[in-house]
Amino acid sequence: MSGDARKTAEALSYLSGFGNEHTSEAVPGALPVGRNAPQRAPLGLYAEQLSGSAFTEPRAHNRRSWLYRVHPSAAHPAFVRTDNGALRTAPFTESVPDPNRLRWNPLPEPPSGTDFLAGLWTLGGNGDATRRTGMAVHLYHANASMDRVFSDADGELLIVPERGGLLLHTEFGRLHVEPAHVALIPRGVRFRVELLDESARGYVCENYGAPFRLPDLGPIGANGLANPRDFLAPVAAYEDVTGPVEVVSKFCGNLWTATYDHSPLDVVGWHGNHVPYVYDLRRFNVIGSISYDHPDPSIFTVLTSPTDTPGLAGVDFVVFAPRWLVGEDTFRPPYFHRNVMSEYMGLVEGAYDAKAEGFVPGGGSLHNMMSAHGPDRETFDRASGAELKPQKVDNGLAFMFETRWPLTLTPQAAGADHLQRRYDDVWQGLERHFRTP
Ligand SMILES: [Fe+2]
Repeated sequence: MSGDARKTAEALSYLSGFGNEHTSEAVPGALPVGRNAPQRAPLGLYAEQLSGSAFTEPRAHNRRSWLYRVHPSAAHPAFVRTDNGALRTAPFTESVPDPNRLRWNPLPEPPSGTDFLAGLWTLGGNGDATRRTGMAVHLYHANASMDRVFSDADGELLIVPERGGLLLHTEFGRLHVEPAHVALIPRGVRFRVELLDESARGYVCENYGAPFRLPDLGPIGANGLANPRDFLAPVAAYEDVTGPVEVVSKFCGNLWTATYDHSPLDVVGWHGNHVPYVYDLRRFNVIGSISYDHPDPSIFTVLTSPTDTPGLAGVDFVVFAPRWLVGEDTFRPPYFHRNVMSEYMGLVEGAYDAKAEGFVPGGGSLHNMMSAHGPDRETFDRASGAELKPQKVDNGLAFMFETRWPLTLTPQAAGADHLQRRYDDVWQGLERHFRTP
């Protein structure tokens, strides 16, 4: 990748509240002044609005961008169905929901020539994409750059790379994403994934519901958790390419393809707040207890997709970032629990402090609604007897997609060779210590 691309991806911060307006132009003068759709847009461009929310949603939740482009998006031939590969969409009805604790190893190596889109493999999910509720968990493993363009009408895509850098060429410009970053592609935004290393592996949360936003901070105050200034949007960059370009669209669970006579990544200027962004998880401001016990993992929420019920997320994206543990008389690893929410966890690097082994980078675990889980025996024994000095947990980066509905697996996930068959064993041997006085 050129140094120029790296620079481009870092040039603009994404000041969320998400109501804020951002502006970028690749050619000076591309943006009209004082109006969105003048009689003739500057530089002979076409003006086009991309709506990420209903026109009438409250201002604080309203998402839309104005794009000034070489060709209007409407100028395309008919789409025809194409193979969905290993990509599946809610409602997930091919399996029954599984109450068991489940864990997977990383995806196997794909055939050579597998690009990001072909490398997407759906683990499961919930809700209904056509009702714009719920989410899906996908993993990807790719070894080729895309020479086609993709967009997803069903939801936004939160990409969590675990191995290999990505350069996301989007309608809004380019985003450079590395492991320990996350990137978000809003619903409907077209993009192409260029691999920056020989292969790329990671996770994707496809969020069918309300767009991710920063959580409210309540008594935490005006600062903390993920700070708005660390979300980076691209600088406008466009492809003025003629010739056949394949464009694939995911719509209500199926992939559709059309061959354009130009690149749809031809936006010369844009403004708005329905924009892709990248965030470095190492910038997360971790907040925790400085007395005893530890807060629920909701304190680690980076982004939340709210529902109509206050405080009840369709899906939260939560990161377990390096942090100090100082609690007195406290069992410091994540406690034993049963949760009405359902938890899919992945690991970007290192290890996770509730598991001694078996939870590996690129793998994942699913603890569905009310399934009992927590530290394995080795972790329990170690933490119960540890001397409670201040301790830095800095050997890993784990994350969680936590969702209000149970996840139903795809048959390919339920029957995968890389599903660990003896995950329950990690909770075997937790000895009886009960004694009456
Ligand atoms: Fe949990």
